[in-house]
Amino acid sequence: MKAVIHNISIECIQGDIANQPNMDAVVNAANAQLRMGGGVAGAIHRTAGPGLEEESRRQAPIKPGQAVITGGHRLPNSYVIHCLGPVYGQDEPSDKLLADCYRNALRLAEEYQLKSVAFPAISTGVFGYPVEAAAKVALKSILDELTNLSSLGHIRFVLFRTEDLQIYNSVLKKLTE
Ligand code: APR
Repeated sequence: MKAVIHNISIECIQGDIANQPNMDAVVNAANAQLRMGGGVAGAIHRTAGPGLEEESRRQAPIKPGQAVITGGHRLPNSYVIHCLGPVYGQDEPSDKLLADCYRNALRLAEEYQLKSVAFPAISTGVFGYPVEAAAKVALKSILDELTNLSSLGHIRFVLFRTEDLQIYNSVLKKLTE
C-alpha cells in the first residue's frame, strides 16, 4: 500500500532490503559494533562487501536508538543508515528507543539531502519486538516527522515476510485514513 501525505509518499512492499535500487539510502538493522550480522545486517553487508564494515566499525559502538551513516559501497544505494534497535524487553523504554531509530535516521537523511530512504522492520527479528507493535511505532514516528522533512519525498518499508507486509499495510491504512 502507498499513502501520499504532505507530498511525501510512504509505501510498504515485500522484498529484500539489500536489493532496493533507485533509493538513495537503505537502513540497516545493525548491531552495536556495526559489523556483519544475520538478517538485515547480513544481507546488507554481504551485498555491500567488506568495505562497508571497514567504514562502519570506525563509528562503533552505537547505542539503542542511535543512527549513523556510511557509504553504500557495492549496494545499489549511495548510503547506508545504520540504526541499533532496542532488544525487546531489555532496552527500555523500547517504544521510545525504536521511535528514536526512525527519527534519527530521517534526520540523517535530511542532513545529507536524500530524496528516498528504505527501512526494514527494525528490531522485529533477532531483537524480538512484536511486529504489530513495532509497525505502530515505526509508522507513527515517521508520520509525526513528515512536516519537518524538506528533502525526502519517498519513504519505503521493505518487509521480508508476507504476514509482516499485511500488518504494516493495515497499520498504515489505520493511521492515515
Ligand atoms: N530484507 C528485509 N527484511 C529482512 C531481511 C532482508 N534481507 N532479512 C530479514 N529481514 C526482516 C526480519 O524478518 C525481521 O522482520 O527484518 C526484520 C529485522 O530482523 P533482524 O535483521 O534480525 O534485525 P533486529 O531484530 O533489529 O536484530 C538486529 O540481528 O543480525 C543481527 O547483527 C544484528 O545483532 C543485530 C540484530
